[in-house]
Amino acid sequence: MTSLGDTKAPEGPRVRSAVARRAAGRSLEAPFYTDREFFGLDIAAIFTRHWIFAAVDAEVPEPGDYTTVDIGPYPVIVLRDEEENLRAFHNVCRHRGARLLDAGRGSAGNLVCGYHKWTYGTDGALRYAPSQPASFDPSCFGLKSVHVRSVGGLVFVCLADRPPADFDDVAARIEPYLLPHDLRHAKVAARSDIVEDGNWKLVMENNRECYHCDGHPELLRTFFPTYGYTEENLPPQLRPAHERYLRADAETRETYERLGLPYALIEELDNRATGFRIQRDALDLAGESFTADGKAACRPLLGGLPTPRLGHLALHMQPNSWFHVVADHAITFSVLPLAPDKTVLRTTWLVHPEATEGVDYDLDTLTKIWTATNEQDAHLVARAQRGISSPAYEPGPYAPTEYQVEAFCNWYITRLREALDDD
Ligand code: FES
Ligand SMILES: [Fe+2]
Repeated sequence: MTSLGDTKAPEGPRVRSAVARRAAGRSLEAPFYTDREFFGLDIAAIFTRHWIFAAVDAEVPEPGDYTTVDIGPYPVIVLRDEEENLRAFHNVCRHRGARLLDAGRGSAGNLVCGYHKWTYGTDGALRYAPSQPASFDPSCFGLKSVHVRSVGGLVFVCLADRPPADFDDVAARIEPYLLPHDLRHAKVAARSDIVEDGNWKLVMENNRECYHCDGHPELLRTFFPTYGYTEENLPPQLRPAHERYLRADAETRETYERLGLPYALIEELDNRATGFRIQRDALDLAGESFTADGKAACRPLLGGLPTPRLGHLALHMQPNSWFHVVADHAITFSVLPLAPDKTVLRTTWLVHPEATEGVDYDLDTLTKIWTATNEQDAHLVARAQRGISSPAYEPGPYAPTEYQVEAFCNWYITRLREALDDD
């Protein structure tokens, strides 16, 4: 694997002291969101050390299929090789370092650099380098590989020499939830990249709470706004929604039991390297999908499951992803940092492989709710970034319903401490 031994965490005293004095239960100090040195630490301590959600198997179903993803300054290729194995490589030519493949997706028997035509096989081996002397040894110039794993059709990569060892355990625990939906053999119905004007952590933090959910009228047709609340801290105005939730929850639990679908909450967000949270949960109205009336938007159901009224399977993974799987489609979200105040949110919609657009589903109906929700969240993230950039900003307290934001920040700060201690 590639050695990233040079990407040590920066050791600036400002960074060290800010990490040391982080106050639990409060938002982070401004430089964590705005400062280039802190951003460098995020890349070195988080994005080059942990498993990053990068793609879905359905983007690369056939040998030669590839997709690209930029993880901070590291462009990466995820592809299916000739033996149908999943592979990942640094998207950097071994000749003079040109970016090998342009951004996007495609299919190719060989990977050809657009500069001087060095040509690599899908196994990363250099197959052709024009006009080299007889002494040239192509076996010394294969593409640099990156660790890659598929979990139930979700593809994670790790840039580190030694990825976090707990990923096997996490994979074993989340795969039983994912496998009944057969995402590995799903079809990509749509993919969107939006550039948000905020730090990547603000994108993640915003997703970990529903305190702001009245900003999502479309989503709240079916997503219960009680998410993150308990009986003890439920606001009175959410009581009717909570009553509906309890009824829907009892019904969907019966369905999960009958179909043998795992549904119990597992929440290990900040007590391990690969923090995660998974749960099956009810949806409002028809309870089938993220649509205006809650009814399924696509006719063949994922995995051929016998009923559409399954609520949603929600999965969060530290540091950069979340997922919703409903009976008729799945949506994956990947948060990819560009700069201290710029982040790509990549959203991918998956449907049954035999579903035909315009016949079995209308693309606009399928993508409408989360497209609107993403736009609304992007505005909130930009708003937070702008305020945090003011010298008047100081960290503020999380409400109880924001406990997952605290868990994210605690996971993050713990990882920074570990990285700084390793130096
Ligand atoms: S940089 Fe790729 S062939 Fe020269
Ligand atoms: Fe939101």
